[in-house]
Amino acid sequence: HAADIKVVVSADQPGPVIHRNIYGQFAEHLGTGIYEGMWVGPESKIPNVRGWRKDVVAALKDLKVPLVRWPGGCFADEYHWRDGIGPRNKRPVKVNTHWGGVPENNAVGTHEFFDLVEQLGAEAYVNANMGTGTPQEAAEWLEYMTGEGNATIVEQRRKNGRDKPFRVHYYALGNETWGCGGNMRPEYYADLYRHWATFLKTPAHNRPKFIASGGNDKDTTWTDVLSKQVKHNIDAIAHHAYTFPSGKWEGKGSAAGFPESEWVSMLSQVKKIDDVLAASKVILDKNDPQKKIALYFDEWGSWYDPEPGSNPGFLVQRNTLRDALLAALHFNVFHSHAERVQMSNVAQMVNVLQAMILTSKDKLVLTPTYHAFKLYIPFQDATSLPIKVENNPTYKVDKFEMPTVSVTAGRGKDGKVWVGLVNSNATKPAELDLQLGANAPKAVKGQVLTASAMDAQNELGKAPQVVPTAFEAQATNGKLTLKLPAKSIVVVAVEG
Ligand code: AHR
Repeated sequence: HAADIKVVVSADQPGPVIHRNIYGQFAEHLGTGIYEGMWVGPESKIPNVRGWRKDVVAALKDLKVPLVRWPGGCFADEYHWRDGIGPRNKRPVKVNTHWGGVPENNAVGTHEFFDLVEQLGAEAYVNANMGTGTPQEAAEWLEYMTGEGNATIVEQRRKNGRDKPFRVHYYALGNETWGCGGNMRPEYYADLYRHWATFLKTPAHNRPKFIASGGNDKDTTWTDVLSKQVKHNIDAIAHHAYTFPSGKWEGKGSAAGFPESEWVSMLSQVKKIDDVLAASKVILDKNDPQKKIALYFDEWGSWYDPEPGSNPGFLVQRNTLRDALLAALHFNVFHSHAERVQMSNVAQMVNVLQAMILTSKDKLVLTPTYHAFKLYIPFQDATSLPIKVENNPTYKVDKFEMPTVSVTAGRGKDGKVWVGLVNSNATKPAELDLQLGANAPKAVKGQVLTASAMDAQNELGKAPQVVPTAFEAQATNGKLTLKLPAKSIVVVAVEG
């Protein structure tokens, strides 16, 4: 009998705070992510509050969404904010060239977006257009949203129905400027950022955090160049990394109906997130020793080949138990880099890529990923706690391998010690002994998320297959053993 896995949590050595924004969301004008999925318009028969679906907003409120990034993504670099203000029936219709070439009628604009985040009780992350915009347009958008005096642009906001300023918490210049945002070199973007950021002005009490668009995947060049060359009006660098089962952009792989090797190839890639964050930390500690610049991971998640029969530009994919584990593994990694990683935004909130919610007409389902986010709510603003994992076996299928168990711990805002565990092994349960310092706690209580199939889903009109259930364990003879089912996520509060 192999030695049990041992997990030791040091509850007396508090680390950095796990910022609630690690549980942030991203909503782009893409497919049915906003239109249909969330926005149905005030005239719709689908129950809504000023155009936003009641059922979707309620489900997202339950998730305690801390912030939403909008309007893109690649879309942001073709978005001109003036198209999205004033009477909706007078707004221009454009073509969404990035995503399916469909008409964009600009029904959701600045005022509608802020209505959504205010309904959610979330903060607003607005991504300005650098690709096809101007520094004037970016500066004026900020003035329109935050201005207080009697400048004409502020009066225009009032005329459009909003007297008091919007609270803009985060404002980014450009998106993926190495690619869809303009195919720039990092040095060129660094100069543009310095130039544009000079003109971003707001009342002091409504100053957003300013975000520079950073690198992708394993590439840390952007983090290096930006943290070295930009010193003014920069609060964070935004990094992106998606995960494909094949590891390749072309021929990504399927969302469902995959062999166990693809289960592991997918989940094992979370190591690349850990690696890029570790490498970024070294760079930032050198270029920004005062720790003024945070790292935001503002796009991440699974990306599969498009669902057969769907518009490939709509990035529709199914969501399975594998996605839930992928999310939890990301959370554990983000927690371990909490000092610099102060925001992450899963792509995307509704109907697009690794979504929380899938809708069809007036119906919705909560995806396995939704439940992973929900299980981890106690970690929002928790204080991270060091953990040690011993005897963690390697889980290997074909050429893919990873540690079997992934663990995170934190002291929640409720004062309790919370532990989040993932057993990535698709076929075997994992047994582990849990200790708080030198002793076994009395008991643990929480929830487990698992299912019988690796690609179990929650589908419209069918009984959901992936829903959390209660999980408990008590100590016996001074030992607390947790039995994690195969392919499961367990989040528990520790007693005693
Ligand atoms: O999330 C979909 C797209 O992925 C975003 O628009 C872009 O930033 C990234 O390439």
